[in-house]
Amino acid sequence: MKRIYFDHNATTPIHPEILERSGQWLKSWGNASSIHQSGREPKTIIREARKNFSDLIHVNQLEVIFTAGGSESNNFAIKGIFFQNNKSTAIAKNHYLVSTVEHPSVLETFEFLKRQGADVEYIDVNKFGEIDLEKFERQVRSDTALVSCMLANNETGHVFPIRKMAKIAHEKGALFHTDAVQALGKMSLNISELEVDLASFSGHKFYALKGVGVLYVRTGVRLENLIHGGGQERNRRAGTENTLSIA
Ligand SMILES: Cc1ncc(COP(=O)(O)O)c(C=O)c1O
Repeated sequence: MKRIYFDHNATTPIHPEILERSGQWLKSWGNASSIHQSGREPKTIIREARKNFSDLIHVNQLEVIFTAGGSESNNFAIKGIFFQNNKSTAIAKNHYLVSTVEHPSVLETFEFLKRQGADVEYIDVNKFGEIDLEKFERQVRSDTALVSCMLANNETGHVFPIRKMAKIAHEKGALFHTDAVQALGKMSLNISELEVDLASFSGHKFYALKGVGVLYVRTGVRLENLIHGGGQERNRRAGTENTLSIA
């Protein structure tokens, strides 16, 4: 019996080109940080992948950080801003806004923030899954550090007015994060035009392998590292790169 797969929001099949080329990529087993011959090939593969991905979402290559997936990207964005804000003893901003319909990797990260003393408030949606922009505008405060709202919902498919929301947040001096995991590959996407500060992506939601994702960090946005260690990803995300999945 022919099986038709209809759950591309859970995960997507692996693209045939990946199946075809993975043997070749796996042969580049070296450590991209090695300064000798074996490090050169993986380094080139990763450089090319970064260029391709940044072109795909219309951002600068330096704004792309490879992670281990959507969950890590969301954790990195939210905790990264929180820890950055808490570096000094006098916390300047401690108010956070998040929609009620986020993926658990966002909602649970905000639960963690609450346990660290953050003031987290929720942006409600109506029965159609839509946000009331005027109500949202009233919720953003001068001490709001970060607003997080997904671009496309994983269950309803609703697409949120992220550009307008980011503009409202910026007017009050807050940063804006969007979980764009379910948007990429399903709608045209220009992250620069959306004017968000941070955006999360996951490889396995658009035909790539599992265990790889991206956090887009707009130039100038400062966030504390989540994974400390080596100097990979321009000192922002430690750990020997997963060359195959990144490719
Ligand atoms: C909206 C959304 N964000 C984040 C994730 C987590 O991505 P990953 O599975 O790569 O950790 C998912 C996965 O279901 C998702 O649907």
